[in-house]
Amino acid sequence: MSKHTAISWFFNERPNDVFTTETLTLREHTLTDLLEGQFRVKTHYLSLDATNRVWVSDWDIYMDPVRIGDPMRGFVVGKVIESRNAKFPVGIFASGMASWSNQVIGDETSFTPFPAQENLGQAFAVTSIAGPTAHVGLHHIGELQDNETVVVSGAAGAVGLMVCQMAKRKGCRVIGIAGSDDKCRMLTEDFGIDAAINYKTQDVTEALGEACSDGIDLCFENVGGDILDASLTHMRDFGRVVICGLISSYTEKDPVPGPYMFRNIIMRLLSMRGFVILDYMDLMPKVQADLGAWVKAGELRLPLHVVDGLENAVDAVNLLYTGGNTGKVLVRMV
Ligand SMILES: NC(=O)c1ccc[n+]([C@@H]2O[C@H](COP(=O)([O-])OP(=O)(O)OC[C@H]3O[C@@H](n4cnc5c(N)ncnc54)[C@H](OP(=O)(O)O)[C@@H]3O)[C@@H](O)[C@H]2O)c1
Repeated sequence: MSKHTAISWFFNERPNDVFTTETLTLREHTLTDLLEGQFRVKTHYLSLDATNRVWVSDWDIYMDPVRIGDPMRGFVVGKVIESRNAKFPVGIFASGMASWSNQVIGDETSFTPFPAQENLGQAFAVTSIAGPTAHVGLHHIGELQDNETVVVSGAAGAVGLMVCQMAKRKGCRVIGIAGSDDKCRMLTEDFGIDAAINYKTQDVTEALGEACSDGIDLCFENVGGDILDASLTHMRDFGRVVICGLISSYTEKDPVPGPYMFRNIIMRLLSMRGFVILDYMDLMPKVQADLGAWVKAGELRLPLHVVDGLENAVDAVNLLYTGGNTGKVLVRMV
């Protein structure tokens, strides 16, 4: 047996609402010896993503759900500290899909080398999920054109902030929807989007009607429910609705009603398309090159919401479902 131990969160019980320490439990366990091709990674950052809640649901989803008893799945970046794979030598950084653990065993099917850099958390936040999801969703799925009117829900979160900035760099008029005045102020003042709507204090349908008097060309949907309905109400003819996420329903136990303004799919000749970023890995060389160039040009940045310590991961992930985060939620372990 290996002498190496790791500390990991294990999936223990399906949640009724948000995550609790009954849903996931933290414990020490022994790591197996490395097989040929494997390497051991000391985790520096764990990415917490809204989709984590979907992975522990009993829904029929786009990939295998996490099974009860397994370590909780998550994206990590860290340093290779033991290796039986020449492409991942000791000392390099690597990122990939692994688990909520301080040390993980990986191979080249689930990890890629990650450039070592001073601001590792920032680079990981932009390039791991949020940036690629925004890029593929907006350009490949949404076929964004210059100077369009774009509405983004969940606009002050990780994916939403990336979408807002990418649409602005194409000269678009961008309207963000978020859950507090501070988030709305950040969107307009710090990120230069054209208008922001606080869905907790404003009538979103009315506010969108005022902010998009000529209609919406592209709706980038992260939330669903009433917020999606508000955008559907104001779509222009031939508008596109990109369904990236439906976070307002992730903690619901019963099926939620569909959009009330679904008829506008016909009346406004709309197209609506969902996507899962994991299906677009073939686009990653171009996507990563663009992200790197835009960050370098100062066109793209992502505020981090860093929580220290693996033991705080459950509280940290719940920020996503309560709106407690601004920007990308990361757990820092080193
Ligand atoms: N399709 C894909 O491949 C893919 C990949 C990654 C992410 N996603 C989706 O992208 C969306 C954003 O994910 P993320 O990880 O970047 O999270 P995030 O946007 O950083 O955080 C989630 C935000 O959602 C908002 N929210 C939570 N519950 C809400 C509710 N009931 N109604 C309205 N807003 C609510 C909160 O902001 P407020 O304060 O504004 O409420 C919260 O900060 C999610 O829907 C996720 O599933 C999809």
